[in-house]
Amino acid sequence: MSRKLNIAVLAGDGIGPEITKQALEVTKAICNKFGHTLNYEEGLTGAIAIDTVGEPYPQETHELCMRSDAVLFGAIGDPKYDNNPSAKVRPEQGLLKMRKDLGLYANIRPVTTFPSLIHKSPLRADLVEGADFMCIRELTGGLYFGRPQGRSEDGNTAYDTCVYTREEVERILHLAYKYAGQRRKKVTVVDKANVLASSRLWREVAQEIAVQYPDIETEYMFVDNAAMRIIQWPKSFDVLVTENLFGDILTDEASVITGSLGMLPSASIGIHTSVFEPIHGSYPQAAGKNIANPLATILSSALMFEYAFEMMEEGALIREAVSASMDAKIVTEDIAGEGKAYSTDEVGKWIVNYISQKEI
Ligand code: IPM
Ligand code: MN
Repeated sequence: MSRKLNIAVLAGDGIGPEITKQALEVTKAICNKFGHTLNYEEGLTGAIAIDTVGEPYPQETHELCMRSDAVLFGAIGDPKYDNNPSAKVRPEQGLLKMRKDLGLYANIRPVTTFPSLIHKSPLRADLVEGADFMCIRELTGGLYFGRPQGRSEDGNTAYDTCVYTREEVERILHLAYKYAGQRRKKVTVVDKANVLASSRLWREVAQEIAVQYPDIETEYMFVDNAAMRIIQWPKSFDVLVTENLFGDILTDEASVITGSLGMLPSASIGIHTSVFEPIHGSYPQAAGKNIANPLATILSSALMFEYAFEMMEEGALIREAVSASMDAKIVTEDIAGEGKAYSTDEVGKWIVNYISQKEI
């Protein structure tokens, strides 16, 4: 059934514009192939938005996101802010504001491997082959948003606060069980309940919710142990659910299993419009050079079709095209190894071409 899709495109900073351009081309190719009409509108976010209108997530961008069916997001961040800890406005604040204002409480980061990339993983092939799990990171609570946050008057003491409410923990856990029910039926709840009060609330709530899903196995794990297990035995995970900062850290760790940070997409879902973005940052050193890996963003577009539009075939064709590009060794320098490195554009074009020629 053909549909009309309205999406917002927030390219952001650094390599953001180059990689979103490719993901957008792929999105257009899929819409052509399946007979959907695509309307897209671009919005400002990140350092470029600060430079243009003085804030990293302007109201106008928020309104654009609110009236769209999905948001395709590139990356934000600029070294001129990273190196200036006293900057009053920072690009990252835009990302956090967007998450909060759109109510994006769950960030889903699937970790899968690609056969042609196994040799790029720092882990042994037999540990990595077939690893397939989903990290669900709570995205609008914890240390990122807890108050008070700040500095003492003399500037010599600083503090952040990790706050969670029962309701916040419940909704993310229910989501974890929902996805585990569609997968291999195992949930790993990651916390630091031996030390942190907020983690003890997580565990208490998890124990109450676990009994509501008797056909799903629940495993509890401390975050330090989880960090080790992801490396030691990645195949033991199915759905891993955790609070905001733990999830931030563990998913960067998990991404190297695939062989490149440039491969991992994510979906942020919640109360309003969902956002689809690569998990990597703005990689400013590569900006404008046409060398960045567009695959994480292209795969984020696959997640957009699946999660925002429930269009599974469309998502599957993007994945197929991405795998085919890697099998054909049409890859950017981060995964090319000894082989020829293709540009961001060339990889994107190859994938678009694959999709256009595919008989469906
Ligand atoms: C991520 C990023 C962000 C985060 C930064 C850019 C604020 O690292 O999406 O994982 O910490 O959430
Ligand atoms: Mn991160």
